[in-house]
Amino acid sequence: MMNTQARSETVAPARALGRLAPNIPGDKSISHRAVIFAAMAEGESHVTNVAPGEDVASSMRCVAALGATVVRDGLNVRIRGGAWRDPSEALDCGNSGTTMRFLIGALAGRGIAATLTGDESLSRRPMLRVAEPMRELGAVVDTASGGTAPVHVRGGHPLHGGHIVMKVASAQLASSLMLAATGANGRVTISGAGTARDHTAKMLPHFGVAVQRNGDDIVVDGPQTFRAADFRVPGDPSAAAFWLAAAAIVPGARLVVENVNLNPTRLGFVDALERMGAGVTITVTAEEPEPMGHIEVSARPLHAIAIEEPEVPAILDELPLLGIVAAYAAGTTTVRGARELRVKESDRIAVLVKGLRALGGLIDEVDDGFDVTGPSTSLGTGSVPLRGATVESGGDHRLAMAFAIAALGASAPVTIEDSGCVAISHPSFFADLEALCRG
Ligand code: S3P
Repeated sequence: MMNTQARSETVAPARALGRLAPNIPGDKSISHRAVIFAAMAEGESHVTNVAPGEDVASSMRCVAALGATVVRDGLNVRIRGGAWRDPSEALDCGNSGTTMRFLIGALAGRGIAATLTGDESLSRRPMLRVAEPMRELGAVVDTASGGTAPVHVRGGHPLHGGHIVMKVASAQLASSLMLAATGANGRVTISGAGTARDHTAKMLPHFGVAVQRNGDDIVVDGPQTFRAADFRVPGDPSAAAFWLAAAAIVPGARLVVENVNLNPTRLGFVDALERMGAGVTITVTAEEPEPMGHIEVSARPLHAIAIEEPEVPAILDELPLLGIVAAYAAGTTTVRGARELRVKESDRIAVLVKGLRALGGLIDEVDDGFDVTGPSTSLGTGSVPLRGATVESGGDHRLAMAFAIAALGASAPVTIEDSGCVAISHPSFFADLEALCRG
């Protein structure tokens, strides 16, 4: 079930932070993949440290409706998958774009007939970017007139091979096509994923599916069967980013986040913090199947940077948070080539602009990004760039958490309206933040 409790939270400025960040949730992107791939495999898979939020619960609920047995025990889940059946009711993907887009491909590849629905936010998000290439492979996929959900995948249309050139460098789309390809009769070549996160290509072989990467192209020879596997989900760098940002903006702070996924396609924010002048140390503890380790950040005077289009995929979900950190960095930070932010769980550019202005921040909006001007004197000189105010999350978990971090260096408490949405990815976020601020 979606979290519909609007709720509000007030976060006070922080005088200091603890040295060890609270445990972060398992990676949301990887958890979706592990759950869906396990459900596509014969036999029982064990997924541990699965992301606790409502988004991954949506994936679990949907694969259960398709015939998988899903038994959850805290952060661990046993999944027995195999052949899927046409579900008797629409698959409710909640707020989760990843669930909907992945399942469109998986269903099309398996010839399953199903309708996919979502909440108000998901029902506004673009689905033609998935439906159209799926049709090129022979699938029959219909959307509502605006190219949005509900999406109907018509069963019984076998897929053939083909070469798909993606118009958007989206990891969700590339993943959906890879899942479709596992049910196709022939070779599917996917071009245009660029530097988008590559978890699917890395994880599919673990579940018995061969994927080739030829330069920028991803190649899957269908049909292929999935094999059950055990998978431990590393900590989510997108969740870690909030604690790291806190450490960068609270004077004197120094903290370490442990057991974080260090896949380079996800580390754009850590890179940006370093370029802004924060102290950053990374310790790698494991390499396979995903690199993992600890990240330490210490507060130092911050300065503005420019983020351009090629860097956007690796920092995509953290860009609103970068906008907050930029308010604490001397000079004007610019973000461009990030129009995708407008079609996420909210229009993330618009929600950031409105909230940051309410806090007294200087932000200009452009179509594909924003400019944030920080104080002329940087952190450490006693400047407090933001004031207390009430801000709206736009029902978007990442914005709610970004505004909570903004509060830590502000002159007075910040109230975040509609804060219950943090349950999408990090249900214990406000309790964890409070513990971090207690030191
Ligand atoms: C995701 C890919 C990204 C990201 C989303 C999760 C994934 O979306 O913003 O939060 O798990 O593949 P796009 O593929 O739309 O860029």
